[in-house]
Amino acid sequence: MNKFTPAKPAGARSVDEITASRRLRRMRKADWSRRLVRENSLSVNDLIWPIFIIEGKDRREPVDAMPGVFRLSVDQAVKEAERAAKLGIPALATFPKVEMGLRDRTGAAILDPDNVINRATRAIKEAVPEIGIITDAALDPFTDHGHDGILRDGIIVNDETVEQVTAAAVLQAASGSDIIAPSDMMDGRIGAIRDALDANGFQDVAIMSYATKFHSAFYGPYRDAIGTAGLLKGDKQTYYLDHANSDEAVREAEQDLAEGADMLMVKPGLPYLDIVRRLKDEFAMPTFAYQVSGEYAMVKAASANGWIDGEKVMLESLLALKRAGCDGVLTYFAPQVAEVLKG
Ligand code: PBG
Repeated sequence: MNKFTPAKPAGARSVDEITASRRLRRMRKADWSRRLVRENSLSVNDLIWPIFIIEGKDRREPVDAMPGVFRLSVDQAVKEAERAAKLGIPALATFPKVEMGLRDRTGAAILDPDNVINRATRAIKEAVPEIGIITDAALDPFTDHGHDGILRDGIIVNDETVEQVTAAAVLQAASGSDIIAPSDMMDGRIGAIRDALDANGFQDVAIMSYATKFHSAFYGPYRDAIGTAGLLKGDKQTYYLDHANSDEAVREAEQDLAEGADMLMVKPGLPYLDIVRRLKDEFAMPTFAYQVSGEYAMVKAASANGWIDGEKVMLESLLALKRAGCDGVLTYFAPQVAEVLKG
């Protein structure tokens, strides 16, 4: 006998004695019983699809690090919105890649009622009124330094940025945006936006706060998609949350809710499941996660190499976000997921 083979000791207990007959595998024995006790599920109703918008007509530019993702001219975005609505996707989140010549120190072009994001909102709302539109009021697509706020003497100035973001939010609402989702992490932005929306007759426009947006390396491909990667000087640590922190995330969410946020968002997604769970338990509010560009890119890259089953990982990662407490997820996979769930 091999001396390393563990011997069953004389008088050893049987498994039924060890478990007191509580065999947890019983309910896993068949597909029907697994389905019966399944606690969470993913549906098309959980999906928000982020799309990138560019100037021009009939343009679809592939984003290098995000296979399957395109920058779309407004007419193409309308087509994709029609497809999304047919698939049952509840809402789109739009992000512009602004022409370089239109970017400046303060991101002034965000205050143009006819900028590409506001035109996209109007065109989509006209063609596909049944789909929800979520717009970001952060300045980064519009600044020539790639920061989310106004840069003065090396500092992202808070209060001036809040004024600009607030004015942009009102213009977005006037263009037909249903939800303002400010991602800039300035202090006081939620309350300021709520006041301004209400004062301008947009009481029904909701606010999804990027309450806990972490300083993260997972945003890389997005910055390439909107053309800020080469512009950004320094990093965003003075305004995004330190990714070492969790209590601070709770304080951020609490503050945004006190200021009038209707929904909370955690960003990135999968590496921050603990934050999702804490916020859901603490506040019981509609809670979302943004499965960001780097998360998407990792799945696509590994899948393209044949190292993982991309479709299964996509579905598992989204279900994990649901299990953590998300009511929905912003994900570049949205149309693909909707197709898979339909089929
Ligand atoms: C900035 C913004 C970011 C993303 C959306 N808006 C982060 C950043 O560039 O710092 C990231 C989205 C993604 O990575 O998919 N306001």
